[in-house]
Amino acid sequence: MSASIGRIAVFGGGGFIGSHLTRRLLANGYHLDVVDISSEKIGDVLGHDRLQFHELDIYEPENDAACAAIVERSDLVVDLIAYANPEQYVAMPLEVVDLNLFQNLKIVEDCIEAETRLIQFSTCEVYGMLGNRTGDDTVFDEDTSNLIMGPVGNQRWIYATAKQLLERMVYAHGERDGLDWTIVRPFNFIGPEMDYIIESPDEGTPRVFASFMSALMYDHPMFLVDGGKNMRTFTHIEDAIDALELIIENEGGRYTREVVNIGTPGNETTIRGFADLMRDIYREESPDGRLPPMREVDGEEYYGEGYEDCDRRIPGVDKLREAGWTPRYDLRATLENAMRYYIDKYELERAPSPALSD
Ligand code: NAD
Ligand code: UGA
Repeated sequence: MSASIGRIAVFGGGGFIGSHLTRRLLANGYHLDVVDISSEKIGDVLGHDRLQFHELDIYEPENDAACAAIVERSDLVVDLIAYANPEQYVAMPLEVVDLNLFQNLKIVEDCIEAETRLIQFSTCEVYGMLGNRTGDDTVFDEDTSNLIMGPVGNQRWIYATAKQLLERMVYAHGERDGLDWTIVRPFNFIGPEMDYIIESPDEGTPRVFASFMSALMYDHPMFLVDGGKNMRTFTHIEDAIDALELIIENEGGRYTREVVNIGTPGNETTIRGFADLMRDIYREESPDGRLPPMREVDGEEYYGEGYEDCDRRIPGVDKLREAGWTPRYDLRATLENAMRYYIDKYELERAPSPALSD
């Protein structure tokens, strides 16, 4: 625990990353204000004496004063609020910009006003189409890599563009107004309680790990978008939270006014390879070992018109390694751990009760 930080405000602390961060920060002794429209994923810690949960929608102007007061009394703000699912980028592009840029700027302004340090969540998607699959091992560097977006009509890029502009404005406020900031660019974190589980494909389109996990458990097809040829580096949520802890502690100010990638470069795979590995693990771990079919699908057919994918993205993580960070989970261990959580949770729920099966 950092001696200079007592109270932390976690905006979006009810989400996937936020819920894991909230639990870790409570375990580390911090006092927390969590702001979210949902507390479903932090139900287990809601009664904690060092946690105050505020069910506030940051869109609503009547909540502006409450948010500003929370920022005012905090030593640090971590802002995770965003629409973060590719399905939303093409289905509701204007809402994505409104929340991910304009509504988040209100929190940035509160931090300037209160002189509170801000850790702003951005995304690895700001690198856009920089990486490619054809043998070029470009490692993305926070301070020197270019940020390359596709055409305006390919609306997938609206999310990355909004996040990029938010980053640039945070940077500019640092220069002009003295805002104390760190920007975080996560690379495909996965783990328990990521997104949501669907029982059938017409219930939504969670991000890939939750989508494949749903298919395995509820026996519907695993859809390989564009043949599953694109690549990602996946990061176990606990490794990500370890890195975030270092950024929060900010020893010697090493992360002050820095952009920081968080990702596990060694955990690279094609999406087809990811699906195959999940199938291997599921076959070994699940009670019945049955596997659903895999089906190839065109990206625009699956997500809607305007979808375009990132081919490949490898994080440069020198800024974390220099502070002693090393990921604990390789790709198989990441998946085994995350899948075990779902198998235990959902297989138990779905198992017939002894009374019924007698
Ligand atoms: P998430 O959707 O689980 O979390 C976002 C949270 O924001 C949710 O709990 C949601 O209820 C809350 N929220 C949304 N609208 C709100 C509003 N109007 N008022 C108050 N709260 C609201 O997503 P996540 O995966 O935890 O991502 C967190 C952040 O990290 C996002 O900014 C996302 O862009 C970024 N990010 C995540 C990943 C990843 O690997 N998960 C990768 C890149 C970037
Ligand atoms: C997402 C979102 O843009 C952000 O939340 C975030 O910035 C980023 O993840 C991240 O986690 O770092 P993306 O990696 O494209 O971007 O999201 P996924 O839905 O997890 O898709 C990964 C890959 O799997 C894509 O190639 C996608 O087309 C593919 N996919 C996805 C499938 O083949 N099948 C599916 O059912 C779902």
